[in-house]
Amino acid sequence: MTDFFDKLIQEEPYTQYTLDMFSRSAGKDHAEIKQFAKWRELVTGANKYTFEVPHLGAQTPEISVRRESGDEYDLVSFASYNYLGYSYHPEVIQGAKDALDHYGLGATGSPLLNGTFQIHKELEDGISDFFGQEDYGVSLFSSGYGANLGAISAFIHKGDHVVLDRSSHASLIDGAVLSQGKISLFRHNDAEFLEKVLKRIDYENSRILVCCEGVYSTDGDYGTLRDIIDVSKKYGAAVLVDEAHSLLVAGENGRGVCEEQDVLSEADMIIATFSKSFGGVGGCLYAKKKVTNYINYYARSRMFSCALDPGVTGGLIKAVELAGSADGDDRRKRISENADYLRSKLAGRVDIGTSSSWIIPVIYGDERLTLPLSDYLQKNGIDISLMTFPAVPKNKSRIRAFVTSEHTHEQLDVGAEAILKAAEEYNFLTE
Ligand SMILES: Cc1ncc(COP(=O)(O)O)c(C=O)c1O
Repeated sequence: MTDFFDKLIQEEPYTQYTLDMFSRSAGKDHAEIKQFAKWRELVTGANKYTFEVPHLGAQTPEISVRRESGDEYDLVSFASYNYLGYSYHPEVIQGAKDALDHYGLGATGSPLLNGTFQIHKELEDGISDFFGQEDYGVSLFSSGYGANLGAISAFIHKGDHVVLDRSSHASLIDGAVLSQGKISLFRHNDAEFLEKVLKRIDYENSRILVCCEGVYSTDGDYGTLRDIIDVSKKYGAAVLVDEAHSLLVAGENGRGVCEEQDVLSEADMIIATFSKSFGGVGGCLYAKKKVTNYINYYARSRMFSCALDPGVTGGLIKAVELAGSADGDDRRKRISENADYLRSKLAGRVDIGTSSSWIIPVIYGDERLTLPLSDYLQKNGIDISLMTFPAVPKNKSRIRAFVTSEHTHEQLDVGAEAILKAAEEYNFLTE
């Protein structure tokens, strides 16, 4: 097996790559680590390694990156989740600087013990005001991943049930695993399928949490929240909606897909990540105050991890303020127009699946194209996100364009042109 593998990576190190290739091996000697090292060296030596390429400035629509080879590329970026451009907004940066001056670099402790500062309370209040519902609270986490992990595993225990949309993000799945609850999946966005799953559970005597998302980053489609919540309530299940890709962006006032589908007061738990439209890092649970108070105390990823750093927290307060003002309205309008514009350039020519948001996947299929394609796209002027097996089914690998409110039409044209050129080169034009 190792001989076969050695031959494969020696002969075709670049075009034979798939993500699962190095995920495990049998035996005590960790062959996968040695094989990965060998493969990485070959691919990097050929200047074809496109992962973790350092950016030389902020996450603006135009960026410069430097590969390990020393080669620099000027790129139009479609790979950042900085949907509203707040990561580099001058007021956000000033908010961060002021907090940094006042509170110093790190929180240096768990939020439950010594790590909570007045500025964290201000962020909680800012988010609560943004949603505008009575009796709701905010539980802050130092990552969106940690928010899902902590919220689910503190709410659900051994013997309870977690029922997830099949396209759920890894952090929701990991939260369910950590909870030790029984895990079931339902077909993506299919409330009828969900009903069948719920019927199979002894729902009258069981605690159940149904997990779904506002916008799914795999396909760029919206969650069918209204239907999912209606079915869940029929069976006494609580519902968690992860609005990682939609809070501040979707809904008339930016309150997410929950606002857009009029289920804000029916969702039991809403998760936000601060690493996307907020332009920072961290995450939170928004729920009834008695729930957030409990989660604050019992979520392990919060209890045993340092609180959000004050600088980021100061920046986040500004981002929420801006998103709730006319500035947010303008940016929401622009991102939606930009997404429609890019979609119109790609639809019918490549497979963009069911995208209807600011996330536009282009499905190219064969996972072995992943590295050549991303190398080609970088060398042709764009940075774009990759998603391959096992994150998506086999032969459903895709690039994903994340559109922001700050892209110009000229930059979107550059993106469309590079994608269509690559589709021609690698044979995934559909027309
Ligand atoms: C749906 C969803 N939830 C949670 C997360 C985790 O967020 P973070 O990167 O802020 O930890 C992500 C990250 O991509 C996500 O897409």
